[in-house]
Amino acid sequence: MDERRGIPLYYLKSEEEVRQDVYERYDELVARQTALHLADELNEGYPFQPLLDYVSAWWPADEHARVADIGCSVGRLIGEAARQQPGWDCYGIDFSYQMLRQAREYWLLGKTLSPNLLRFGYPLTALVGQQLSNLHFALADAKSLPFPDGSLDLLWNTFLIDRLADVPAAAAEWHRVLRPGGRLVIVSPLNFLQLAQWEQYHPPVKLLDHFLQTAWELLDLTDPLVLHEPMDARGNRIAWRTLAAVLVKP
Ligand SMILES: C[S@@+](CC[C@H](N)C(=O)[O-])C[C@H]1O[C@@H](n2cnc3c(N)ncnc32)[C@H](O)[C@@H]1O
Repeated sequence: MDERRGIPLYYLKSEEEVRQDVYERYDELVARQTALHLADELNEGYPFQPLLDYVSAWWPADEHARVADIGCSVGRLIGEAARQQPGWDCYGIDFSYQMLRQAREYWLLGKTLSPNLLRFGYPLTALVGQQLSNLHFALADAKSLPFPDGSLDLLWNTFLIDRLADVPAAAAEWHRVLRPGGRLVIVSPLNFLQLAQWEQYHPPVKLLDHFLQTAWELLDLTDPLVLHEPMDARGNRIAWRTLAAVLVKP
């Protein structure tokens, strides 16, 4: 298995794939994810605290658990899990090397990030990282994960499924890696990129039907879970009307 600067690569992207992937653009989406998820002091708190609250309400009670965040970007949710639950093994998976690099520096190496968020009107700031030893980051595709069958207690993904080209393939993979009784938490604004996906999965009952017809049981449905993403220092915000659902592998 290849590795680049401490990040295992379970998928080798071609140069073209890197060029096409907006999440590899450091000055654009990595900076935006950093501003949203790590720069609490610039936002008067964590803007996605309701997202963290929703996901963490479904964390297992066990002292030892294996949990994964698929599409973790800069690692806020999985980093919180690792920090608050030192007995767990926590995995952050993403398809963007640049996101994972930022996540690793912040959550594993304890570096101080000095992101340039000036174009959002934020002053220069120092974001002090952590050194967590129960957290691991890897680059992999959501539909081909580096976990054995039935090995995870909980898997979540937030703001991911509307970015996936093949939702059924990813859902089958999540089912494979969860143990019986394991939970899947999905939070997504269902802000699909293609008409075909809108037709296939919207309204959300269509998306849920897909899961319920393929060996999942529904534990919770919250629609909408509204989240506000700050755009800049002035307080302009995007209001995301997400669908939040919890499914269990029987
Ligand atoms: C919109 S961001 C959401 C990040 C974060 N989970 C959140 O809630 O804000 C989508 C993330 O999913 C990642 N991603 C996109 N396609 C993926 C795939 N096929 N497998 C794994 N991660 C993927 C992107 O690199 C990006 O970091």
